[in-house]
Amino acid sequence: MTESKYFAYHPPSRSGRFGSSLLTVALLTTIGAAIPVGYNIGVINSPANFIQDWCNETIYSTYGTRLTSSGMNILWSAIVSIFVIGGAIGSLGGSWLSDILGRKGCFLLSGALLVIGAVLFQFCRLAESVEMLMIGRIIVGLGSGLVTASLPIYHTELAPLALRGTVGVFCSIGVTAGVVVGQILSLKYTFGTEDSWHHALSAYAILIVICYLPCKWFPESPKYLYLIKGNHSLAESVLMKLRGTDPETVELELKEMENDRKEKSMSRSLRSVLTDYSLLLPIVIVCTFQGGQQLSGINAVFYYSVTIFQEAGLQKDDAEWANLGAGSLNLLTAFFTPLIMAKINRRPVMLTSTFASAIALFALTFIIHYINAASWLPMACIVCVLLYILFYQIGIGPIPYFIGSEIVNTESRPAVMALGSLASWSCNFAVAMLFPTLQAAWGAFVFLPFFIDCVVLFLITKFYLPETRGRDSSEIAPLISKVLPISYKTGAMKLSTTRTARICQAVI
Ligand SMILES: *[C@@H]1O[C@H](CO)[C@@H](O)[C@H](O)[C@H]1NC(C)=O
Repeated sequence: MTESKYFAYHPPSRSGRFGSSLLTVALLTTIGAAIPVGYNIGVINSPANFIQDWCNETIYSTYGTRLTSSGMNILWSAIVSIFVIGGAIGSLGGSWLSDILGRKGCFLLSGALLVIGAVLFQFCRLAESVEMLMIGRIIVGLGSGLVTASLPIYHTELAPLALRGTVGVFCSIGVTAGVVVGQILSLKYTFGTEDSWHHALSAYAILIVICYLPCKWFPESPKYLYLIKGNHSLAESVLMKLRGTDPETVELELKEMENDRKEKSMSRSLRSVLTDYSLLLPIVIVCTFQGGQQLSGINAVFYYSVTIFQEAGLQKDDAEWANLGAGSLNLLTAFFTPLIMAKINRRPVMLTSTFASAIALFALTFIIHYINAASWLPMACIVCVLLYILFYQIGIGPIPYFIGSEIVNTESRPAVMALGSLASWSCNFAVAMLFPTLQAAWGAFVFLPFFIDCVVLFLITKFYLPETRGRDSSEIAPLISKVLPISYKTGAMKLSTTRTARICQAVI
């Protein structure tokens, strides 16, 4: 769910120390905005049955009709996945809005949207309105998309160069942690009961209120003030405050911003990127990695894992604990990924990750299919899900977010990243929308498409991805056009890609 163009792993250097105000702002914005995003992903899982029963009764009393069980599946996947539609819109509009409203303005707007969503969740029962629940989900999705697109920009622009990598992962770790918080507050020991699930859905608003109280003192991004607002003196005074009174560092950073301005003015349009044949393979890699990350089924696990475990024969209680275990393992591994990314090459990590995930998913399919054959099989099912999460987190999880910045040069990067983001959100939506229906129709075999996806990612990595760690994207660019098997002087190919590009442009 996390997603950012600025998600690059610079190993943190010792020379960078956290200014106290930077640390405070980064922590408060992470707790106040990133955690609620993850919260809304994790919270919808455990109370699903209670909310479905309520929908059933509410629709009966409002419209006088009863939903069939497949009708309920569709309604439920709509409630879950409408969040993703909001997320897609919010994240695609995020980079545009963060130029108009400012990074801090975007942060404030997303907080407001998240609070409105919480109010709708809190009162949908009182108002007996399924529509309110739906509208709340889409508004929360909009806010979440905005957070994932703009908060990493805000963070990296506030941080000095040496800390950019460290602060850059705050948002994605916050989202992962938020999933766990959502899972905890929707256990049956907290708010996950028939009477109080609406409190579970809206409890995150407290975090927002607390963390937004001091927002008057949060600085606007100096880079935004300098480059977009053109307010050089204000940018300088904000930088002074953030960096302490070291005029040399401030001078250096302002110079760096000047350079960025030149780079930015050279960035290429979507049209020119789509019609450039030498970029075809990088685009394919970025889009299949970002889309494939979603199609590997991670969100099926986080949106529906309690149901998955229950279908596998676990009691509701055990299923909830297994779900919480999955979220915690995910969070734990997320802390180690920056280390793995800094120390180990991309290709072996990605090959191991896709290969092991494929095996775990394949095993999961057959274990669930034959779940009644032996008493230890439900346990094996949990182990498979946990192994899948572990191997997902070391490669399929983090690599797609920044592979674009490693294989595409600066001018083409924004356009290619936007395409990748589009692929990611569409596949996320497809999984959230189709999973319950396919699960009802196919049973355990619903996991086979995820398995196939991991195999495809494995093959693409094996045959097309050059090693990128520690290399500059300008070294990679010639390498990656060479690995393409078909000569790209072939006229026919060129013609057909131009046509595809035109169709893409028409659609966009
Ligand atoms: C809706 O509620 C009725 C009455 O309690 C029940 O018979 C029916 O199975 C429920 N439908 C679904 C889809 O849960």
